[in-house]
Amino acid sequence: MINKTKQTGTAKLEVKGTTVELPILSGTHGPDVVDVKRVYADAGVFTLDPGFTSTGSCESQITFINGEEGILLHRGYPIDQLADQSGFLEVAYLLLNGELPTQPEFSEFAGRVTQHTMLHTQMDSFFDGFRRDSHPMAMLTGTVGAMSAFYPGAMDSSDPEERNLAYIRLIAKMPTLAARIYKYTQGQPFVDPLNELGYAENFLRMCFSVPAEPYKVSPTLARAMDKIFILHADHEQNASTSTVRLAGSSGAHPYAAVAAGVACLWGPSHGGANEACLNMLREIGSVDRIPEFIERAKDKNDPFRLMGFGHRVYKNYDPRATVMQKTAHEVLDELGIDTPVLRVAKELERIALEDEYFKSKKLYPNVDFYSGVILDAMGFPTEMFTVLFALARTVGWVSQLNEMIEDPTQRIGRPRQIYTGAAKRDFVPISQR
Ligand code: CMC
Repeated sequence: MINKTKQTGTAKLEVKGTTVELPILSGTHGPDVVDVKRVYADAGVFTLDPGFTSTGSCESQITFINGEEGILLHRGYPIDQLADQSGFLEVAYLLLNGELPTQPEFSEFAGRVTQHTMLHTQMDSFFDGFRRDSHPMAMLTGTVGAMSAFYPGAMDSSDPEERNLAYIRLIAKMPTLAARIYKYTQGQPFVDPLNELGYAENFLRMCFSVPAEPYKVSPTLARAMDKIFILHADHEQNASTSTVRLAGSSGAHPYAAVAAGVACLWGPSHGGANEACLNMLREIGSVDRIPEFIERAKDKNDPFRLMGFGHRVYKNYDPRATVMQKTAHEVLDELGIDTPVLRVAKELERIALEDEYFKSKKLYPNVDFYSGVILDAMGFPTEMFTVLFALARTVGWVSQLNEMIEDPTQRIGRPRQIYTGAAKRDFVPISQR
């Protein structure tokens, strides 16, 4: 149950002669927080923090990040242990329920997810409305939102059974939806899920098999896909997760709240960075051009940034990037590929990590730096990369949404502002302006 913070001190804020005492709260790990809930009521001022660099939005027990030391824990378990020893569906159970499942619990959960992989047949008609060259994220934003029309019962967020069913359905149907989006862009027939296969294996088959030929999923690629899903499953209160929480805080339909998260993830500063990163590696093209791009990234007058580098929270190596780099080598070895893109990525990483600009600003490779290299080698077009991120992050979104709904202190998210527009004035009729 949420509500486990302890008051460990008091901060004093002096506002125009009035002193307000604010509780200092401690959690399990991480910096203490100053609880500013009563600042407006007691001192008549708001706090201002655009971009939320110093502001916590909620209490959470799902994911912990220590950006200085490069630590990422899900329900207390380090991400590298989960990526190496667990599977995506087990991590999904962990994120949703708080503990690792026993074997019977896992079988029941995996069985339920498997039973919900099919889409309502009417969902397929939506695709005909899209241009074939539509961006896959545009189609995903629309179709995830459209799914809310098929499951009106999920609107009742007070019923834990309805909520759980909505989360299971979303986790189960995202791969089917994502694969259909890919197939639609390729002009190939949709491939239905085959429930005897594992989650990642099933997804790869729905993407890459065609009716004209037999298709066997490579276990190395299925394992790599599963790892990529684990590495993207959750990342505490990032932009898209905060969007899902904010949309859900009004009591919106959970599928619609997740669609809002998909929309937020699309941007190149967030989930769209993996697509942007691979495009950048391709644009660089060869190792000898790297210095030119490093100089551009450092130039204040050039908007170019090294995609896949830097993070709002990590001021150290992103622990997901470490696993991702290892997985990239496994996949490329299995496929016997030594791409120019990989050569550029490795050399770019080496040069940037030695460069004073990147060192002084603590800019390290993030999860997106190598994920694009792997997905490209697997055969996914760059426009699909963020869709795969969204598929995996759905688990985090629904876990965070559920935690918020179960939080007894939950209220609609409603930030305030400092108004600097025109002062109050009287309306002038158009004839007199
Ligand atoms: N290349 C060159 N300079 C950079 C970069 C970069 N990739 N990232 C940050 N900087 C510089 C930036 O110019 C600024 O310099 P100064 O202080 O001199 O003005 C300083 O570092 C701090 O940057 P910021 O933009 O204030 O930091 P932020 O926390 O607001 O932004 C970020 C974080 C991830 C948006 C940013 O690092 C970035 O744009 N990176 C490239 C995009 C990317 O890879 N995004 C994926 C993030 S991980 C996956 C996810 O969360 O979805």
